[in-house]
Amino acid sequence: MNPSDARIVLTGATGGIGRETAAAFIGAGASVLLVGRSAAQLSALSRSIQATATGTAAHIKWQVADLGEAAPVDELVAVATEWRCNVLVHAAGVPCFGALETVDAETMRRVLDINLLAPMRLTQALLPHLRAQGRAQVICLGSALGRIGLPGFSIYSASKFGLRGFAEALRRELSGTGIRVQYVGPRSTRTSFNNAAVEAYNAATGTAMDSPRRVAEALLRSLQDGAAERFIGFPERLAVRINGAVPTLLDGSFDKHRRSVPLPSADGALSTQRSAPPGVSSPIESSGVPR
Ligand SMILES: NC(=O)c1ccc[n+]([C@@H]2O[C@H](COP(=O)([O-])OP(=O)(O)OC[C@H]3O[C@@H](n4cnc5c(N)ncnc54)[C@H](OP(=O)(O)O)[C@@H]3O)[C@@H](O)[C@H]2O)c1
Repeated sequence: MNPSDARIVLTGATGGIGRETAAAFIGAGASVLLVGRSAAQLSALSRSIQATATGTAAHIKWQVADLGEAAPVDELVAVATEWRCNVLVHAAGVPCFGALETVDAETMRRVLDINLLAPMRLTQALLPHLRAQGRAQVICLGSALGRIGLPGFSIYSASKFGLRGFAEALRRELSGTGIRVQYVGPRSTRTSFNNAAVEAYNAATGTAMDSPRRVAEALLRSLQDGAAERFIGFPERLAVRINGAVPTLLDGSFDKHRRSVPLPSADGALSTQRSAPPGVSSPIESSGVPR
């Protein structure tokens, strides 16, 4: 879609990727409804974009909504409908890194709720309105980890694999309706989403990290070209293809990653001191990790 025709609901607008994406969309001529949980942050973001992109006041609106709560989401749906949105970008998300036995039940629930169920609920609620627009797009910001499962990311990967499955099935379900459903999978990106443990894992495994601007540019391209799926970075794009075709082929490629996941010891402390198994790193392992 031409950005100047786009009226975009952007969740996660206050995040590291969301802020850059909002600026990129507005800069390309789109209208954006910023969604986050903090009125102060949304208002400051709206002001700062307006200060740098002249003549955009009419194109920015914001709405507070905790996507894990029913009433604020109902209100968001009403506002977005009234505002006549025709694009939905799901960029809100929560991280989860650690060995499975270190993840508590509440964290598991929250990750699946915000990363997977929230986009499903919001898309469903806005679908009648999007159908009525004639042409519309739903862009799911997933992850390379929605195509490749990595040690330390079992819960996060489950949420992003789920999101990718949702996007793929819904794209096929809505084929011919004028609504395009898309998935964008960045690799690791420099935002506060990644804590010190993830940064240590990235350093230990030689994982490249992108700027949030690079992800924002990919989202803008996906808005413009309607690509069903877009993954960012090499060798991640190659790994995504191999893993999609023959997942077991890569099973032996992630020993370095497995050894870099902190594991609880008998006294409860976390440590990554695990003996390295014999063998040689695969090309995928030695060139980093998708995220
Ligand atoms: N950074 C990476 O390495 C990376 C890589 C691949 C994919 N991604 C994906 O990219 C997306 C954005 O990541 P980011 O790096 O920008 O993360 P971030 O800086 O932590 O931002 C997360 C965004 O999600 C919002 N959010 C979290 N919980 C919410 C809730 N309950 N209701 C409404 N909004 C909520 C946050 O809003 P508040 O400001 O209100 O907290 C914030 O706007 C996520 O879906 C993530 O999975 C990130």
